[in-house]
Amino acid sequence: MPTIFTCTKCGAQAPKWSGRCNECGAWGTMVEEAMPKNPLGPKQHLSSNKPAQLINWHELPSKPIHRYVTGLIEIDRVLGGGLVPGSLILLSGEPGCGKSTLVAQIAQTLDPQLSIIYISGEESAQQVKMRLDRLNYQPQKMTFASETNAETIIATAIKYKPQLLIIDSIQTVYSDEVPSEPGSVNQIKACTIKLLELAKEYNITVILIGHLTKEGIVAGPKTLEHLVDTVIYLENESQHSYSLIRASKNRFGSTNEVGLLEMTGHGFRQLEKTTSLFIQPIQGASGSAISCLIEGSRPFLLEVQALVSKTYFGYPQRKAIGFDSNRLQILTTVLTKQTKINLTDQDVIVSVAGGLKINETALDLAVCAAIASSYYNRPLPDKTLFLGEVGLAGEIRPIGKLEIRLKEALKIGISQVFLPAQAKITSSKMKIKTSNNLLDFFNQVWPKTDK
Ligand code: TYD
Ligand code: MG
Repeated sequence: MPTIFTCTKCGAQAPKWSGRCNECGAWGTMVEEAMPKNPLGPKQHLSSNKPAQLINWHELPSKPIHRYVTGLIEIDRVLGGGLVPGSLILLSGEPGCGKSTLVAQIAQTLDPQLSIIYISGEESAQQVKMRLDRLNYQPQKMTFASETNAETIIATAIKYKPQLLIIDSIQTVYSDEVPSEPGSVNQIKACTIKLLELAKEYNITVILIGHLTKEGIVAGPKTLEHLVDTVIYLENESQHSYSLIRASKNRFGSTNEVGLLEMTGHGFRQLEKTTSLFIQPIQGASGSAISCLIEGSRPFLLEVQALVSKTYFGYPQRKAIGFDSNRLQILTTVLTKQTKINLTDQDVIVSVAGGLKINETALDLAVCAAIASSYYNRPLPDKTLFLGEVGLAGEIRPIGKLEIRLKEALKIGISQVFLPAQAKITSSKMKIKTSNNLLDFFNQVWPKTDK
């Protein structure tokens, strides 16, 4: 049988094996697979198919999206209000992060009238039952099958017509019609397409569980993400007890929202109150600044820590944990050029305490404040919040969603805030300090030092 080499990272195909993918440049990702049947065979006619039926918009009534509300607020928030009937959802995460537990809890909290089929190719009925017992869940309308054949799974779903079909996991499912091994790129793609057709044609919501590889992509093809309606990642910070759930694609809702969960002895617990979850600032310590991040519509107060120390060997190091290292590189250069903080012979480490990841420029000022504080070994003022984007000229630029951030900060007793000069703020219970640029800002933070 003819074979083809496929990159497990980007899905590029080549007739010959190579150590490095020519498309994405990844090493050791080319795997041999059987050629799919009829790869773009010659066509006799332009088309012998029957034409598609066209729809006129005015004939189609507008319908609000109906959803199965899961009852788990954190999950509904990420899904955009609940599971949409007939949608295909990919739930991915690293092994052991709690994917099977989460789907079981979704099944548990859904309307008990909905019928659910749980298919597992990874665990036996007894193992799944043990988990359900742990969750204290005695399903009424959820049935189980240990099955890996895609055609059998689809036949089962067509026969019993559940409202929800859970497949744990897509890597274990294989189709008879595809000659490659289970778990291979072609198999995963083909099985997902079949399940997508099932979801649309029979209006069955399908949740697929997908494992993440070490590189952090859904094992096998990233292409899987293009096929499904919604992609949800469950992230578990190993050193923290909580898990973050976020949608990276959502055809039926926003992709910005995050949900917070905590694993307990009886499944996940929802963390709705997050005000002081990520901060326990040590008072009087240098290199620590408080700021507020917005994820979707939700504010998270967090602590940015920086450590600046003289470089003893080679190039100065720039290390960022929970923060973009390119952004750190830019900010250290801005600080060196636009202020009197010379970082050219200093290692700079920035870490976001609590395991959150900053992807907002609104936290630049807090990062700069923390770096300066560590550099001078002088703590920043107590109970103070830092908000603002820093530009290349050292100017402090306005940011969005100020009101939400300040309201959240008030809850933990923040009494002072540093903002960009153009910030439009009407009234606040906090002492407001504004600055145009970093020099001006440092002069306000440490008035007596000449920066
Ligand atoms: P699991 O859902 O099986 O993870 P995945 O399907 O993503 O591989 O379980 C993840 C971990 O959670 C596992 O190590 C056991 C633990 N766990 C609890 O701590 N409490 C519980 O109630 C359950 C069900 C699991
Ligand atoms: Mg599992």
